[in-house]
Amino acid sequence: MQASQFQVQEHDLEKFRLIHTPVPDLQDGEILVSVERFAFTANNITYGIVGEKIGYWNFFPPANHNTLDVEPETKDSKWGIIPVWGMAKVVESRNLEIKVGERLYGYFPMGSHLVMKPGRIKQTRFIDEVSHRAALPPVYNSYARLDYEDDYNPSMDNERALLFPLYATSYCLYDFLLANNWFEASRSKDGQIIIPSASSKTAIGLAMALAGDSSDACPTIIGVTSQKNLKDVSALQLYDQIHPYGEGDKISPQRPSVIIDMSGNGKVLNQLHQHLADNMLYCSNVGLTHYEDNQMGADFIRDRSEMFFAPGHIQKRAKEWGAGIFEQKALAFWRKSAVKSRDWLSIKEHKATDHLSSIYEATLAGRVRANEGNMIVF
Ligand SMILES: NC(=O)c1ccc[n+]([C@@H]2O[C@H](COP(=O)([O-])OP(=O)(O)OC[C@H]3O[C@@H](n4cnc5c(N)ncnc54)[C@H](OP(=O)(O)O)[C@@H]3O)[C@@H](O)[C@H]2O)c1
Repeated sequence: MQASQFQVQEHDLEKFRLIHTPVPDLQDGEILVSVERFAFTANNITYGIVGEKIGYWNFFPPANHNTLDVEPETKDSKWGIIPVWGMAKVVESRNLEIKVGERLYGYFPMGSHLVMKPGRIKQTRFIDEVSHRAALPPVYNSYARLDYEDDYNPSMDNERALLFPLYATSYCLYDFLLANNWFEASRSKDGQIIIPSASSKTAIGLAMALAGDSSDACPTIIGVTSQKNLKDVSALQLYDQIHPYGEGDKISPQRPSVIIDMSGNGKVLNQLHQHLADNMLYCSNVGLTHYEDNQMGADFIRDRSEMFFAPGHIQKRAKEWGAGIFEQKALAFWRKSAVKSRDWLSIKEHKATDHLSSIYEATLAGRVRANEGNMIVF
């Protein structure tokens, strides 16, 4: 049997190739899954951008295809596979507890197949215990066994693959803000939350969580986005104010402010930090949608800025609240918000054989409209 893999150069994401490779024979305890569908957004591009730093290249080692290379692979021309979220079906099993035909949701390679080694098998979950994943964040190694979930609704598969990883992060950020008492920027103190790259789904999920908070404490919500997305983002009616990049000076510098940044745009952050100065109480660096402009300037306030890593927050909550509790809350938030998102988001399915490369290129170049979500289907 042949599998396909979409490989990219780790140091130059503009270089990619689709290769075909034989599926390896299974060992005892292993299963082979066939990927049915996966979502592709700026989040997956970010996996590639920070692949080396966070370890994203280590989840799915690419098949060695040196024969395709004109020149031997060097550190700079190394191929890797970007991880994606989606659904897969078990097509072969040498594991007594996992049957052929079972369907899974979780983290898969951009490709048609994956060999997995299920361990710590529970009724609705298992961990892929393949050795090269052991040191990677556990949230990514855990798979949902869809056939055994009580409230599983197959008609929401696309919304689960596309929105759950992003809205779970939005929910983490909301929980994080609450737990930190809005970093002293609550509404009673006239505070504001500023969200650059406000048109990204992770940002919109956060805006939904904040807009749904009817407490007196929830600060004013301010989105910052590009001119081309301004109209669509305003139409959401989730942000109290919305400003295009370059007009951050229209945001009040007098109000205590927290920035939850999805853009990673050094110029935008530098300008906001300079403008807000002492009132920039905390900046959470969540995303890198503007990965080409990631040099922070001299006014970027480092000692009040921190990286945010959703899997770390989920692990922390699992320790504090017990396993699975946070996931249940995040699932409930995703379900409610995914249904609400049907008003503005159009999810499109694309056949992997025809459109995988073009969707990849469009996402890398930021050409996907903010109100579109792309699913790749095998
Ligand atoms: N830290 C964590 O744990 C965590 C977890 C989940 C997601 N994230 C991050 O959150 C970010 C948003 O992900 P998403 O999947 O929600 O995004 P998305 O829905 O695909 O959002 C796309 C938006 O990003 C901006 N953008 C995308 N590509 C661009 C490009 N090449 N040049 C300029 N702008 C571009 C545009 O927004 P604007 O015009 O509004 O700028 C665009 O509307 C990603 O960086 C992702 O990795 C982080």
